[in-house]
Amino acid sequence: MKETPIPYETVRKIISESQISSIGKASIREVKRLVDDIEKATNTKFVKMEMGIPGIPASQIGVDAQIESLKNNVAAIYPDIDGIPELKKQSSLFCKNYMDIDISPASCIPTVGSMMGGFASFMTLLRLNKEKDTTLFIDPGFPVQKQQHRVMGAKFETFDVYQFRGKKLREKIESILSKGHIHSMIYSNPNNPAWICFTDEELQIIGELSRKYEVTVLEDLAYFGMDFRQDFSIPGEPPYQPTVAKYTDNYILFISSSKIFSYAGERIGIMAISDKLFNTKSDDLVPFFGTPYFGRAIVYGTVYSLSAGTSHSAQHALAAIFKACNEGTYNYRDEVIDYGEKAKIMKKMFTDNGFKIVYDTDVDKPIADGFYFTISYPGFSGEELIEEFLYYGVSAISLSITGSERSEGLRACVSLVDRSQFPDLEYRLKKFNEHHQK
Ligand SMILES: Cc1ncc(COP(=O)(O)O)c(C=O)c1O
Repeated sequence: MKETPIPYETVRKIISESQISSIGKASIREVKRLVDDIEKATNTKFVKMEMGIPGIPASQIGVDAQIESLKNNVAAIYPDIDGIPELKKQSSLFCKNYMDIDISPASCIPTVGSMMGGFASFMTLLRLNKEKDTTLFIDPGFPVQKQQHRVMGAKFETFDVYQFRGKKLREKIESILSKGHIHSMIYSNPNNPAWICFTDEELQIIGELSRKYEVTVLEDLAYFGMDFRQDFSIPGEPPYQPTVAKYTDNYILFISSSKIFSYAGERIGIMAISDKLFNTKSDDLVPFFGTPYFGRAIVYGTVYSLSAGTSHSAQHALAAIFKACNEGTYNYRDEVIDYGEKAKIMKKMFTDNGFKIVYDTDVDKPIADGFYFTISYPGFSGEELIEEFLYYGVSAISLSITGSERSEGLRACVSLVDRSQFPDLEYRLKKFNEHHQK
């Protein structure tokens, strides 16, 4: 038997005691638990790449503004459901400064994380046109958004975009939208888990089809500005964060504070709804929301039902962060660019040791280095690889839970890996490769 970096027998025993029938199919939280148990039993630190959580401190501007607002007693007061005026104003300016798009403050609504923004959008869009009852996921994607559909009993369809990049995207999407049952299509850009970024040509295709078939585009910008191949971080100056909003007037953009401002714990983001959609009128909404207007329906129908708005103090935090960005006194990119630099080093360690990057290009360019990357090893399915990795002190999640058809792949997240662990990672991958070479 080969000597693995983490003692084989101990890992075996903990896996069998865990009662998890297939490690490869386990949820992120289950994998985390298993890894914690192995670390405790072996007194060895894992290179943890399974959780997509920020690895740097929260934006100090946000923390200071939030504390100040709490001292001013906002905790005692219900915030307006559609958001405090300052946040709405700064959100609208942020959209202008960083994407060069015009969305009025009224159409910028804070939500309890983008997670809730997505949920509120699905719930409302589902009722906008009674002929259209299905969401299209341009996958791979964020698994919870499908879970949100399941808990509602709502319909969705998906396809893996891997084979349909560039011009090929048009025919694929059109073949689905032309059936007439899709109310919205969702993707994240940069993409969780694959870190692919749509090109302008692809965004244009999505935008044009959205107009042609009256389908709302839900653009999840959880990793706003984090395609580090370009610098989108100077307010009011190109290049801007690419967005479908340049190509359609029927969209909702989700801007999360969790990753770019490391504000995940406070659960705040905004949905920036195109003014056209916000003011859209449909009699099909009336039975559910008592109003034919989309904007009123999503705010006073859905967001009210879900949470009656978003934490008052967190809104002050995000307003202050956006304001500092808008005024050019705070550059979010400086805070998060280390993720990209770490990814570059880590990806090389993997590829030097026999691994492949699964989603490796944006049409004709190598993908960016950022928060996530995807890997595979010849001869292993993703599920097998996750389990095998446990003996080498490395953890990740399987792409198969993300709607990806690349079942050989894993998603690796760089955020929690400290640079001091790089020698360990390199050693472990080398051992893995030595042990598995055919
Ligand atoms: C693509 C995507 N959307 C949404 C979210 C959740 O964002 P929030 O923390 O704002 O709810 C995440 C977080 O990992 C994500 O990766």
